[in-house]
Amino acid sequence: MTQDAKHVSLPTLVPPSDEFVRQANVSGMDAYREMYARSVDSTEEFWGQLAEQELHWFQRFEKPLDWNPPFAKWFVGGKLNVCYNCVDRHAMGGRGNKAAIIFEGEPGDQRTITYRELQRLVTRFASSLLELGMKTGDRAVIYMPMIPEAAIAMLGCARLGIPHSVVFGGFSAEALKARIQDLEASVVITTDGGWRRGKEIRLKDAVDEALRECPTVRHTVVYQRTGSEVKMEKGRDHWWHVLDESANENVAAVELDSEHPLFVLYTSGTTGKPKGILHTSAGYLLQSAMTTKWVLDLKEHDTYWCTADVGWVTGHSYVVYGPLAVGATTFMYEGAPDTPAFDRWWRLIDKYKISVLYTSPTAIRALIRQGDHWPERHDLTSLRLLGSVGEPINPAAWDWYYRVIGGSRCPIVDTWWQTETGAMLISPMPGATPLKPGSGTMPMPGIVAEIVDNHGKPVEDGREGFLILKKPWPSMLRTIWGDPERYQDQYWSRFPGYYFTGDAARKDKDGYFWVLGRVDDVMNVSGHRLSTMEIESALVKHPAVAEAAVVGKPHEITGQAVCCFVTLKKSATDVDKLGLELRQWVAHEIGAFARPEEIRFTDSLPKTRSGKIMRRLLREIVTSNTVAGDVTTLEDMNVLTSLASQHDED
Ligand code: PRX
Repeated sequence: MTQDAKHVSLPTLVPPSDEFVRQANVSGMDAYREMYARSVDSTEEFWGQLAEQELHWFQRFEKPLDWNPPFAKWFVGGKLNVCYNCVDRHAMGGRGNKAAIIFEGEPGDQRTITYRELQRLVTRFASSLLELGMKTGDRAVIYMPMIPEAAIAMLGCARLGIPHSVVFGGFSAEALKARIQDLEASVVITTDGGWRRGKEIRLKDAVDEALRECPTVRHTVVYQRTGSEVKMEKGRDHWWHVLDESANENVAAVELDSEHPLFVLYTSGTTGKPKGILHTSAGYLLQSAMTTKWVLDLKEHDTYWCTADVGWVTGHSYVVYGPLAVGATTFMYEGAPDTPAFDRWWRLIDKYKISVLYTSPTAIRALIRQGDHWPERHDLTSLRLLGSVGEPINPAAWDWYYRVIGGSRCPIVDTWWQTETGAMLISPMPGATPLKPGSGTMPMPGIVAEIVDNHGKPVEDGREGFLILKKPWPSMLRTIWGDPERYQDQYWSRFPGYYFTGDAARKDKDGYFWVLGRVDDVMNVSGHRLSTMEIESALVKHPAVAEAAVVGKPHEITGQAVCCFVTLKKSATDVDKLGLELRQWVAHEIGAFARPEEIRFTDSLPKTRSGKIMRRLLREIVTSNTVAGDVTTLEDMNVLTSLASQHDED
């Protein structure tokens, strides 16, 4: 039985309590409506005013936007530094003794880093990078566990104008290599390892393997986290703490152009090659800061926890840049939710008196399964607001999150956004928007979203269509690293003049948006994007595989799971062992989180007459085990029948 099969009756509309409204950063629907109207009537002025008020500028910008579709420049002519905005201005402006980062490692080690201390650590790290000869414009890859040094490394790079690319620690050496190569990075910042479920994840070993084929990398900086033995290559590899011995604290934040690249984050697209999504400085910082205020409603005394890893965009915008830009206290936890027991998260909330929690439906579902007695052991009354991101939140997860974790007291902000959007674009404002469980509710200020049909025409309310965005926004991606044509093609060509999100959605008569999921060949596994093509390319690299087709299959916990249809070469032997081997192979090529749940061997794959694999049909097979859709273009119907029946025999 699926969790949603259990009876869950949800309220249709959940208005914020008077108490929440009274203290909210945006209070009441009229305030939202007024701000939204102003933001779309005079968008440039709206953002321009906020940029002036909310950010520290070394040099004021001349105009808010230069829009040469689909290429945007925000806050043209301005000079600022993201690190200065996130660290120095708070350290020197009255928040010096306030906790910037509170951290707990999986083994239980704890740290509290004040803004002043963060400034010291970041400056010293920037000094180490300078010592290694790094210059503004060089690129850094960061491959670290969830420890404060990951944030320090990001901020240290930002201080010098060294664009960073954080690669999630769950990615394999192969995936890391591809990203380093695409970015032509000069430095890799890593650790010996990190802790996950009591075991060490050996990151430096993976770096060593990747660097065999990365000639652009001149140096690595290795932070000692686990203390285990690692190989250090003389001249190339440097211990963080050794560099720190001669570091100094006189490294000024470089005055950078508004559009200076801040980071590149790789995400899956519809081809085998991940896309390097480029975000720049001022616009990204402004919108991640504003949405942190509007949606996460952070105040001076909040202790806020976003459970995302810094390797994903949520970790960038809502663990590091957004919260620090507004001078908040951000909590970081290194390890797994079930270590040493299933109440680790609830224990942390109780212990650190977390007041705002931002996590994903997949994590909620995994924790529901362990039973209510785990959270019930802890005092969760410090919580006042809950957030959700990554996929639509299903009724059972919403209900449990609201009742059991939030004590029916905390609004849930269901935030829709993407790696490409940089910040939340459709979301409730918790002190204004009455919630409808399962809906991301309404667009944020400045965001004009629409549901359109195949021809780009708005559909009627209540009808399903494609979600598009009609105006540029400050934290939008600027391009795909090294591939402006792909940028144009992927996002701006399907509906000329509009940004295509790749999502299907509908808007109800009250103007609430309901995002239904991807319409391209991108899966959403545990709230992480995975491309079917990327896994297919990994599979066909295996010597026994002739062809592969990958689809997402509904999964109770992870939302979708990876299901692969594989045809083997005639020469392949020992088919029994191959299933396991291919699952391992994908984990090696991409990372353990991409390991397929299921491999189905087949003699052939359903294809159109032009030879395109019909993934839609495979999706239907794994979802319902029948095929109801249009099959007139199928070349060989027999293929399909045998695929559908194979499952019954399993
Ligand atoms: O399909 C949407 C889904 O996640 C996609 C973006 O994935 P990624 O770039 O990895 O970023 C995830 C974290 C921002 C979207 O195209 N998605 C994200 N949030 C939601 C969502 N679907 C429904 N509701 C959401 N709140």
